[in-house]
Amino acid sequence: MWGVVCVFGFVVVMSHAAEALDNGLALKPTMGWLHWERFMCNTDCDRDPDNCISERLYMQMADVMVKEGWKDAGYEYVCIDDCWPSHQRDAQGRLQADPNRFPGGIKKLADYVHSKGLKLGIYADVGKKTCAGYPGSFGYYETDAQTFADWGVDLLKYDGCYLDWQLLGEGYINMSKALNKTGKSILYSCEWPLYEWPFHQPNYTAIRETCNHWRNFADVYDSWSSIKTILDWSADHQDIIVPAAGPGGWNDPDMLVIGNFGLSHDQQESQMALWAIMAAPLLMSNDLRDICPRSKELLQNKHIIAISQDPLGKQGYRTAKMDSFEVWERPLSEKRLAVAILNKQEIGGPRGYLLAAIPGWKFCNPKCSVIQILPQYKDMGVQPIQSDIMVHVNPSGTTLLTLTPTSSNTTGLHWQDMSNKRKHTTVL
Ligand SMILES: *[C@@H]1O[C@H](CO)[C@@H](O)[C@H](O)[C@H]1NC(C)=O
Ligand SMILES: *[C@@H]1O[C@H](CO)[C@@H](O)[C@H](O)[C@H]1NC(C)=O
Ligand SMILES: *[C@@H]1O[C@H](CO)[C@@H](O)[C@H](O)[C@H]1NC(C)=O
Ligand SMILES: *[C@@H]1O[C@H](CO)[C@@H](O)[C@H](O)[C@H]1NC(C)=O
Repeated sequence: MWGVVCVFGFVVVMSHAAEALDNGLALKPTMGWLHWERFMCNTDCDRDPDNCISERLYMQMADVMVKEGWKDAGYEYVCIDDCWPSHQRDAQGRLQADPNRFPGGIKKLADYVHSKGLKLGIYADVGKKTCAGYPGSFGYYETDAQTFADWGVDLLKYDGCYLDWQLLGEGYINMSKALNKTGKSILYSCEWPLYEWPFHQPNYTAIRETCNHWRNFADVYDSWSSIKTILDWSADHQDIIVPAAGPGGWNDPDMLVIGNFGLSHDQQESQMALWAIMAAPLLMSNDLRDICPRSKELLQNKHIIAISQDPLGKQGYRTAKMDSFEVWERPLSEKRLAVAILNKQEIGGPRGYLLAAIPGWKFCNPKCSVIQILPQYKDMGVQPIQSDIMVHVNPSGTTLLTLTPTSSNTTGLHWQDMSNKRKHTTVL
């Protein structure tokens, strides 16, 4: 990432992190909808026409995204996952959509989605087959990149099944080059580190140069235990993965499952808060045609989305873990700090947590202005460094706050200290 700063009329170019893939995309974490977790590989359009993987599903989601405020809230990409293609390539060796489920073809679907002011994502695989057994791209990188560009596709989710792990890097890099060669900017969502971790610590410098976001860990399920394992993995590897994130390239902890069946409302708030803190892509996998109003309100919460999309572009991380609480903090623009306090004790009622026990609270010297965003919006006013105010956090719920130091002599320190001396603020 390159930051351009004007000092005394001279332009100074500073390098902050490794360079991102230079396709002009994903300058903020991607927002949209992706079919996998909710609709999986349902191809039974005869018996389940409303929920099968077909052009109808994406057209209906696009319609709802415009009508029900999703697009206005920032959700932009409508994304197809596995199981869209025909089992055979065409006579020219190109991928083709299943003709029964996508009678109009992908180009027409892309035109439809674009006519709504939205973007279309598609899915393919770097190996010989997709994870569900459809044709893979191995040996066809340039053909497939050109096909997607010709169709007007805006995002490619590129899975890593059916390839020897030692070829993963080459395959992902070759496809990145093939996409660039088409001349059309296509957001490139990779799973390279996920498939490499079992064998080898991935090279995040190379990944950031190649991809716009990258999955590190297993697929999300519609359950609190799944969300917890993803959070644990992310915190356990934060020293490796957090520095790789920034405008143009992000760690991807997988889809938001808010609005489905498996999470309580408190757990849904925890996922939303922590995905915003982690600067994660916000790709919902749910049925927008039928979603509970509270989940919808949470997913469209403009204060949480503002944290997700904060222009400083730094990923947050866990700063404290004690007594079944976890504190996660994300430095924000204008020297602010977002703080998520997660209560991991799954018994009892709401438990109190002292503001003064937040590691980043030390920057509130002499005072901070405190806004609570979850569980409900509340201006908590200006609090002194010796504040004895507590927030009460429900079991498996999260209190989300923003802190703004009020004194000008401490504010200059705050986010630099957070990002440069991260290890020293971790209390384990
Ligand atoms: C291709 O890569 C070059 C060099 O990194 C970059 O300047 C250009 O914008 C890229 N084009 C596309 C379409 O991504
Ligand atoms: C990537 O491209 C290089 C150069 O064309 C080629 O030698 C290599 O075999 C390719 N790797 C894969 C996995 O396709
Ligand atoms: C990681 O990738 C970068 C960029 O491609 C490269 O310069 C560097 O040598 C690689 N590091 C290792 C340890 O392989
Ligand atoms: C400057 O910081 C010190 C200690 O950090 C604090 O005691 C003092 O009140 C601050 N001054 C102002 C003007 O805020």
